[in-house]
Amino acid sequence: MTNSGSSALDVAIQAMGWKPGTRVATPTLTFPTTISPIVKYGMIPVFVDADETYNANPFQLAELAESGVDYAVLPHMVGNTLNPAVWTMFKETIEDSCDALGSKFGPQLAGTFGTISCFSFYGAHHLFTGEGGMTCTKNTALYDKMLSIVSWGRDCLCRPAEDNVCGKRFDVKVDGVDYDHKYIASNFGGNYKPLDLCGVLGNIQINKLERFTEIRKRNFNYLYNYFQDIQDIVTLPKIVTGADPSWFAFPITLRKGNRKEITGRIEKRGVQTRLMFAGNITRHPCMKDVPHEKPFPLDVSDSVMANTFMVGLNQTVTPEECHKIATVVKEEVTK
Ligand SMILES: Cc1ncc(COP(=O)(O)O)c(C=O)c1O
Repeated sequence: MTNSGSSALDVAIQAMGWKPGTRVATPTLTFPTTISPIVKYGMIPVFVDADETYNANPFQLAELAESGVDYAVLPHMVGNTLNPAVWTMFKETIEDSCDALGSKFGPQLAGTFGTISCFSFYGAHHLFTGEGGMTCTKNTALYDKMLSIVSWGRDCLCRPAEDNVCGKRFDVKVDGVDYDHKYIASNFGGNYKPLDLCGVLGNIQINKLERFTEIRKRNFNYLYNYFQDIQDIVTLPKIVTGADPSWFAFPITLRKGNRKEITGRIEKRGVQTRLMFAGNITRHPCMKDVPHEKPFPLDVSDSVMANTFMVGLNQTVTPEECHKIATVVKEEVTK
């Protein structure tokens, strides 16, 4: 566990040890911290556009993989499980599952596809622990390295409140000097540890995850059915073929109307809205002077940036609240 999903992504990319200058495939349409560790650690983001599922365009990813891009950091956008074909195209991948705990493709859960996967437990996520995140991997060397990086980079893998689990704490040397294992630095890590309290909240909630997933699906289906007759005005989310998503939020893309005015009216009636994260990250101030590649047109990301908004459907949204969200949105987009 880490103290956020962003920390999880940061730790994951440090553990991978991809060299500065390495080209890393990633989409423009995502949360900024999917990309920030790529940039911070000196790699070059090679951007693909999204497709109509809001996920990274798999054909563009395939082109990059064929042309020699070996690494990728890829999200399941707002919970819509990414086409699993993409994970095997690259040598190593980081799966940004921050929005997708409980989402599946066939029987396989999001978070089990990438070399390392990352989750967020921030508010409105599938579990919420105040702040919190997690990295997962089946690779034991990467697992140990991530434990070290999360806890200051130390060699000793004792968890907080544990001591001398290896039984050799005072029986190790560093560069010939007898040393306490707790203070041997095997990595330049950081302090990405969560509060114990966050872990407690997560442990309690994880027993309720199935029910939370059902509520999210119930709310998604309610909104999806309610908006069926306004598809000349809005584009409804397109589920990846074969996917069984546990949606993070309900995305709506306007075919007509002014988003700022519409979401302003919706907000005034007590229904909160969100934009789909960065839209097209390459248009944000953080990208100024950052080396990157944009080999494809970014029409979908640009359209999402201009026309998409999201409403809530998380496990705290009751059927009555969901009905209110549905009616307010329908009334305002059709005005
Ligand atoms: C796709 C994605 N990646 C990363 C994050 C960052 O997670 P956190 O807010 O826990 O830092 C988020 C946050 O919602 C997200 O949606």
